[in-house]
Amino acid sequence: MQSCEISSDSTDDPLSSSLRSQRQPRIVVIGAGLAGLAATKTLLENGLTDVAVLEASDRIGGRVQSVQHGQATLELGATWIHGAHGNPIFHLAEDNGLLEHTTDGERSVGRISLYTKNGVAHYLTNSGWRIPKDLVEEFSDLYNEVYELTQEFFQNGKPVGAESQNSVGIFTRDLVRKKIMVDPDDSEASRRLKLAMLQQYLKVESCESSSPSMDEVSLSEFGEWTEIPGAHYVIPGGFIKIVELLAQGIPERVVRLNKPVRRIYWNYSAQQQAEIGDAEDHNGDRRPGAGCPVRVECEDCESFAADHVIVTASLGVLKKSHEWLFSPSLPEDKVLSIQKLGISTTDKIFLEFAEPFWSPECNSIQFVWEDEAQLEQPVYPEELWYRKICSFDVLYPPERYGHMLSGWICGEEALLMERCDDETVAETCTELLRKFTGNQNIPKPRRILRSSWGSNPFIRGSYSFTRVGSSGGDVERLAMPLPYAKSTKAPPLQVLFAGEATHRKYYSTTHGALLSGQREANRLIEMYQDLYNAETTKPNM
Ligand SMILES: Cc1cc2nc3c(=O)[nH]c(=O)nc-3n(C[C@H](O)[C@H](O)[C@H](O)COP(=O)(O)OP(=O)(O)OC[C@H]3O[C@@H](n4cnc5c(N)ncnc54)[C@H](O)[C@@H]3O)c2cc1C
Ligand SMILES: *[C@@H]1O[C@H](CO)[C@@H](O)[C@H](O)[C@H]1NC(C)=O
Repeated sequence: MQSCEISSDSTDDPLSSSLRSQRQPRIVVIGAGLAGLAATKTLLENGLTDVAVLEASDRIGGRVQSVQHGQATLELGATWIHGAHGNPIFHLAEDNGLLEHTTDGERSVGRISLYTKNGVAHYLTNSGWRIPKDLVEEFSDLYNEVYELTQEFFQNGKPVGAESQNSVGIFTRDLVRKKIMVDPDDSEASRRLKLAMLQQYLKVESCESSSPSMDEVSLSEFGEWTEIPGAHYVIPGGFIKIVELLAQGIPERVVRLNKPVRRIYWNYSAQQQAEIGDAEDHNGDRRPGAGCPVRVECEDCESFAADHVIVTASLGVLKKSHEWLFSPSLPEDKVLSIQKLGISTTDKIFLEFAEPFWSPECNSIQFVWEDEAQLEQPVYPEELWYRKICSFDVLYPPERYGHMLSGWICGEEALLMERCDDETVAETCTELLRKFTGNQNIPKPRRILRSSWGSNPFIRGSYSFTRVGSSGGDVERLAMPLPYAKSTKAPPLQVLFAGEATHRKYYSTTHGALLSGQREANRLIEMYQDLYNAETTKPNM
């Protein structure tokens, strides 16, 4: 057994001087994604220097993973900085010159599914036919009207009837269908196309919210997710540059890779420590665990004693492993929130072609299945998983990306895709593209690259959403430090929770993850500041 290294760092920060006389609190951060790195950086900058970051995988970044491909950088995870002023990721990128080479095609406005800056989206049907642009626009306007309404439920605190009706998918499908059916100018054929487009839009939307289907996304909570104004930016050098900026100020020894945590023992009394021989030894030297209420045990049996642990593992990991990850178990209400909140998988499939088979003005290919027009929420047998691929975006500009398409798939079908080999996925996607473009001569792609966030044991999903039956209150409960106390700012603050899913307004995003890490670091910093102030204002004895 080995303990955290005892830091000899000293700064003139009043907090650290106050603590030097006793000892630095030991803090273990679990996970080196944006939340974990932001927390660590904040702690170090504020004089809390005895920090160890335990990361299960062999790299930092978590759900940010950029892959170099020739001159281009492909993002397997986070791609866009959503919004400008007020977005800490945007400011970090801007201040460090990361956005200088962002082209128009990489800076888009509006909702992602509707990006139109560098061309038009081609809506193709399974009979190999392109839906006319004006019909697409007509439908898009209609859909967006209803989308605006979904936002109002939260803003107005509108009551929504039965629980099952409290779903973005059901609400949207019902209302859009009504609007389609009452339009007197529409022919039967264009009605049918609009109904089919509706299903495609809902697939795009569920990929964006990383839900299996919009029928699972809570209508009353949908509007609480808050958009930061401004465009969406791609970082040409890769989103990983943001991760590297955060890691810059963190000494190498602090971050331990390949260190999956197996168990977090908390609420650990001195009595229990004595029982396992973790107490202070007779010289008064610190032995692992002396006076520490938390012990973090890794898969390789190395164990870290700590005063505080900040857990940043994803909601997917918590769902799967909270039962054995925490000892004692998490309080019941926190478990309930973990179970109620949603996370599913959104994956990307990159296909590189030697030559483009699309026209220069085409910025994406959207798959509209005419035979799905009348269905309720489509459910596919396993072998039809590819029907959930909603679209392929054309990466732009070609000078940077070559002839690269980026496809989207989500839900259970994404997991089925993850289980197939590259060859099968490449072949299936090529068949799909041939069918919808009506061009049987499309060759197999030169190369395929795809993500597998769902089966990654340390991620288990892409990002969180408020599932029907859950609320922002569940997000708050997930974020609540342990053990529960009257104040969430006072000691002991043994186990703290950060990560994308713990941010009430910005969940599912990189800025939400970063802010949540800073929030938990600040919780500890403020607690020690309060302790210090109380100490120094004590009357002299
Ligand atoms: C496909 C996809 C597209 C996305 N697109 C965007 C986008 O365009 N814009 C945007 O803002 N956001 C986007 N996101 C979301 C964004 O990537 C995440 O919200 C954010 O990166 C999450 O950071 P985090 O630190 O909370 O979690 P993570 O990045 O998951 O970090 C947690 C870390 O903990 C580690 N870990 C887990 N369990 C253990 C354990 N037992 N022991 C030790 N370590 C452990 C993991 O390996 C991981 O490195 C996207 C995500 C995906 C998957
Ligand atoms: C924490 O420990 C105290 C004292 O040993 C005990 O009373 C309490 O029930 C424990 N809490 C949990 C959540 O196990």
